[in-house]
Amino acid sequence: MSKIVTVAAYKGGVGKTTLALELAYLLNAPLVDFEWDSGGASRRWGYRYERAHTRPLLDALAQDRAPKPLVGHRKADLVPGHPDLSHADLSAENGLFGVDGGVAL
Ligand SMILES: Nc1ncnc2c1ncn2[C@@H]1O[C@H](COP(=O)(O)OP(=O)(O)OP(=O)(O)O)[C@@H](O)[C@H]1O
Ligand SMILES: [Mg+2]
Repeated sequence: MSKIVTVAAYKGGVGKTTLALELAYLLNAPLVDFEWDSGGASRRWGYRYERAHTRPLLDALAQDRAPKPLVGHRKADLVPGHPDLSHADLSAENGLFGVDGGVAL
């Protein structure tokens, strides 16, 4: 059975992004970056949305399919975030729980 581990805290600067990246790597699970604060985990991973032509997570949710993670080498696989996440509707009815296991930030 797949599980989703969520890393979240109200307080800023307490290590959420760092923990999510490390945890996903150690669990050999994809990191799904739901956060958008200048890029957070996706940027630290090396992803630059400015160079991409898609919005992997939002596009997958809009098309009612599971997102395909980017493959990480010596780092976790990643479903990257996008600035549009800051005003997206991520309710369960919109398919949030279609993600197949992993660590969510
Ligand atoms: N276990 C740790 N020990 C020491 N420093 C840490 C640890 N985890 C994270 N840090 C450092 O603390 C700072 C904040 O970490 P991080 O960006 O992961 O926090 P955050 O909760 O995601 O912050 P934000 O709320 O701004 O998104 C970074 O400089 C990071 O390198
Ligand atoms: Mg962070």
